[in-house]
Amino acid sequence: MKTGIVLIGFMGAGKSTIGRALARRLHLPLIDTDRFIERKTQRTIPQIFAQDGEDAFRAMEQLALQELAERKPAVIATGGGMVMRDENWPLLRRLGTIVYLRGDPDALFERVSRHPTRPLLQTPNPRETFDRLLAQRTPIYTRADLTVDTTGMESPAVAERILKLMRERSGA
Ligand code: S3P
Repeated sequence: MKTGIVLIGFMGAGKSTIGRALARRLHLPLIDTDRFIERKTQRTIPQIFAQDGEDAFRAMEQLALQELAERKPAVIATGGGMVMRDENWPLLRRLGTIVYLRGDPDALFERVSRHPTRPLLQTPNPRETFDRLLAQRTPIYTRADLTVDTTGMESPAVAERILKLMRERSGA
């Protein structure tokens, strides 16, 4: 495979876990953009949001994509809001096949509630915020090359499904 795979989707979609399974399967490095930014800035995502705000974080995400576009192919797990900047789309496309990991909203919310660290959900009614963001972003996620529904599936099975869809897409 010439280029990499870019996983997009909402918080709790399993982008990092499924990314790890794909990377292992393809012998490619896994890069998680949140971890990449944390390493660069020596701060956690909640610290970045608290100290610099969301816009600054979005600018860091864009810079991360620009830097990754210069590197060797990889499996890239993006933060859930990466798709919100239009300027990021040509960069995402340069990085490889864009795969949207869709999931059942209740299951996603259950998963994010287990780690209540996401700055955007630190609101009086996290479920309402979650639903609003999900509704706003869903049409944007569907601009992906492929959509995979992960509901009720384990990560290795999702990875296999993605690879199968990619093979079919390339006519192999
Ligand atoms: C965000 C999702 C987070 C992280 C940040 C903002 C978002 O990543 O980038 O908290 O805007 O949806 P995950 O999708 O890995 O939770």
